[in-house]
Amino acid sequence: MRSSLKCLSFYFIINTTLLNLYLFSQLYVDQKKSNKNIVNKQQYFGIFNNIINKKQQLFYKQKSNNEFLVLDWTAKHHMFKEQDPINCNFSHINLDYCQSKFHSIVNNTLRLHLIERCTRLSQLIIRWTYDQSYLKQADLIAYHSIHMPRNDLPILIRNNQQQQFSMVYILESEVHSLNGEYWHKIDFPMWYNLERSYPEPATYFNLHTYLNQLFAPIKIPFSKKITTAPIVWIITNCHAYNGRQVFIQELMSYIRIDSYGKCLNNIKSNHITTHKQSNSILYSSYKFVIAIENSNCEDYVTEKLIDVLSSTSIPIVASRNRKPDYTRFAPKYSYINVYDYKSIKDLANYLNYLSTNETAYNEYLWFRKLSINKHTSSVTTKRTLTENLHLADEILGVNATMRKWLLNKETSMNKYCKLVQFIYTNYWKSIYKRKKIDRPTANEVCLPRNDLVSYFLLTRS
Ligand SMILES: *[C@@H]1O[C@H](CO)[C@@H](O)[C@H](O)[C@H]1NC(C)=O
Ligand SMILES: *[C@@H]1O[C@H](CO)[C@@H](O)[C@H](O)[C@H]1NC(C)=O
Ligand SMILES: *[C@@H]1O[C@H](CO)[C@@H](O)[C@H](O)[C@H]1NC(C)=O
Ligand SMILES: *[C@@H]1O[C@H](CO)[C@@H](O)[C@H](O)[C@H]1NC(C)=O
Repeated sequence: MRSSLKCLSFYFIINTTLLNLYLFSQLYVDQKKSNKNIVNKQQYFGIFNNIINKKQQLFYKQKSNNEFLVLDWTAKHHMFKEQDPINCNFSHINLDYCQSKFHSIVNNTLRLHLIERCTRLSQLIIRWTYDQSYLKQADLIAYHSIHMPRNDLPILIRNNQQQQFSMVYILESEVHSLNGEYWHKIDFPMWYNLERSYPEPATYFNLHTYLNQLFAPIKIPFSKKITTAPIVWIITNCHAYNGRQVFIQELMSYIRIDSYGKCLNNIKSNHITTHKQSNSILYSSYKFVIAIENSNCEDYVTEKLIDVLSSTSIPIVASRNRKPDYTRFAPKYSYINVYDYKSIKDLANYLNYLSTNETAYNEYLWFRKLSINKHTSSVTTKRTLTENLHLADEILGVNATMRKWLLNKETSMNKYCKLVQFIYTNYWKSIYKRKKIDRPTANEVCLPRNDLVSYFLLTRS
């Protein structure tokens, strides 16, 4: 509060007329709203690329020409503080780029206007607010899918003078989030789905970090791993939609699994399991980590996979009928899919075999065996995203499924930056005209409830 007060008095001196009670109350709300828990999820949205610069924070009531205002109608973002700038890097957008984007527009006046607007991207200041009184000035109205109003979505201004757009976002899988039946009213659906998001997905993956970790050297070699149990599991939610808890309990009767979380806990430990950092250290000391999601849906792959791959252990996942298709997110032969085995017993036998055969085990880490990794055991690398993508082409091959999907679709930009760039480099009428559809239902894109139980324990015996 102290530094904010300093800031306020400074503000008072330079322009007393602008200081009013409204601003003060907003500031106070901001202080109370700051929330530490947000940080881990931010990482997966690529927010860390856009470190918020508090010194740049300006208060405003009136939106100026070089501002792009994002109004989160549902106020559920929890990632930004009111009026914080969102820092985007549009340094690659130049006149040539803008001209190439609009060369097909025949109307000269319109084309020149669009090109001029596009070149203004580099000076654009993007701000976020949940103050609904900005409705008429906002450029983008954002909704969190779960909290989206069922009726009376605000009417947007869409003419040649002013163009407003709408977007919807969500991180939860289809079985845990309703309101997808209103998505056909929205210009931009942006979630983890690589195929159905528009214009781009907003996944859990920060590609830059992810690729750095994916191509990093092995943290704990096979010979130094824990020998009392080959598998670790840390889960709190013991009522998952896919029935993973029943499946794991059965697997435990064939192979030792150390469960540190609340679900099926069988080990007392001083490890602070809520801390990702300590989870990662724990993960790397085991041979396998269970990374089965709470539900198995199209493209629903979260930090569970990322955390295990970054620990350099082998993830155990669940996928059937490409729900989800892990080859889109990870190198082939880098994980174990439980549905590849006829029975839980077969799976356990294979895991037991791998945990005693170092050569066979290390085959799952094939993509880490780079010459650069021979000389270092440190995970810290200085590769840029572009360098990482080149490395991915070299190691995984240009035609790798993962290259064509995650690496091609996810640019690791903050999702608002992606949208602003898209809006400024496309003609608004073509965006408005796009045929919009609802979010698919859980029945369409997810495996049925308790599928892990019915597949392995009921129909087969
Ligand atoms: C913006 O991106 C360019 C590469 O496209 C990079 O060279 C530059 O350092 C970046 N600027 C900032 C402030 O991150
Ligand atoms: C060309 O575009 C301008 C600006 O949008 C518009 O005012 C004008 O009517 C258009 N001309 C034609 C011939 O469509
Ligand atoms: C261990 O794995 C390697 C590589 O898959 C295989 O060639 C070898 O036969 C295995 N050894 C045993 C004892 O199963
Ligand atoms: C990748 O796929 C394309 C198109 O199928 C093919 O022409 C090319 O040879 C492939 N490249 C490699 C390295 O396999």
